[in-house]
Amino acid sequence: MTTTIRTRVAIIGAGPAGLLLSHLLDAAGIPSVVIDRRSREEIEQTIRAGILEQGTVDLLVGSGASDRVREEAHRHDGIELRFDGGGHRFDFPALCGRSVFLYPQHEVLKDLIAARVAAGQDLRFGVTALSVEGAETARPHVFATGDDGDLLDIQAEFVVGADGSHSVARQAVSPMGGHFREYPFAWFGILCDAPPSNDVLIYSNSDNGFALISQRSDAVQRMYFQCDPDAAPDAWSEQQIWDELQSRVPGTTLNEGTIFQRDILRFRSYVAHEMRRGRVVLIGDAAHTVPPTGAKGMNLAIADVVLLQRALRALLLENDERPLDAYADVASRRIWKAQHFSWWMTSMLHVAPDASEFDRRRQLGELRMVTESEAGRRYLAEAYTGWPFETEL
Ligand code: PHB
Repeated sequence: MTTTIRTRVAIIGAGPAGLLLSHLLDAAGIPSVVIDRRSREEIEQTIRAGILEQGTVDLLVGSGASDRVREEAHRHDGIELRFDGGGHRFDFPALCGRSVFLYPQHEVLKDLIAARVAAGQDLRFGVTALSVEGAETARPHVFATGDDGDLLDIQAEFVVGADGSHSVARQAVSPMGGHFREYPFAWFGILCDAPPSNDVLIYSNSDNGFALISQRSDAVQRMYFQCDPDAAPDAWSEQQIWDELQSRVPGTTLNEGTIFQRDILRFRSYVAHEMRRGRVVLIGDAAHTVPPTGAKGMNLAIADVVLLQRALRALLLENDERPLDAYADVASRRIWKAQHFSWWMTSMLHVAPDASEFDRRRQLGELRMVTESEAGRRYLAEAYTGWPFETEL
């Protein structure tokens, strides 16, 4: 059996980008349907990144999507880079007048889902997109299937692929794939019951490889260390994990505690060749993926939404196609800046498995240049805290 649904905008993916887009469109009086193959519980419980740029927080609060972020996010006025036995503090407000906020992505998702449900959004979990058809027509549609096996034909005036790095919509927009880079390392991530070990996040380059000491709350911490992409998380004992982490942040004694989650994060950089075809656009991870070292993934998805909702308002409320025509070019400027920053932080801080003595010493020279120069510190601070959103479009 096939059920037909008609709406103005069909959004595939109930991640931060898809949900925030439906929220902003609704505020402009544009109805949408959002589908996601996962259950609400899975979306709300999957642990992802934790750093929000100032602009992301301002948008979540200002648009009424999340009040909780204002009360519960922890402001971080800097980070610390560690290398060669020393610690170097980056004071973000002094360097660029902005800060970042620690507020886990799944908390953002809980807030967005609650706001969408309260507003009566047509939001369907457990619905898997099969294909996007008719991109070059005025009536694109999404074929999907629910848990019951019934087919859904969602007919819209516009389709948005916000369906993550394994996007189905991508086939309709960028069938030749995209620009791609893989890295010869991954992160071994843990969540543990312990108090914070430092007031700000520590990004540490050591002879044994990179480590990131992040946080979740006063009682739960998130930490990562560089590992082989094929590492098996369960092959490590808790003691081995702590020994590895402690060895990579000399100068700090980490507060240890029970490790209750472990995972391997593979690294890749990706930008789709095309981000728009006719009346279908890709946003967020469907359009681009960054390695996590620069904390840019979710923030970049939100920046896409800021631009796209403006283009869709013009198209659907004023019949003006010009902002949409400019969308991919304008969005790609920030995307490639974030790609560069994420690649740069990654290569500056990790020790490649085949690094020569020259590579290692050059890397320490680079770290010294960045930390000893105010211009270097400011460059990092501006990128990490997030560039202002584009205003033209
Ligand atoms: C995290 O807390 O999960 C986190 C923080 C900063 C990063 C990446 C991940 O750069």
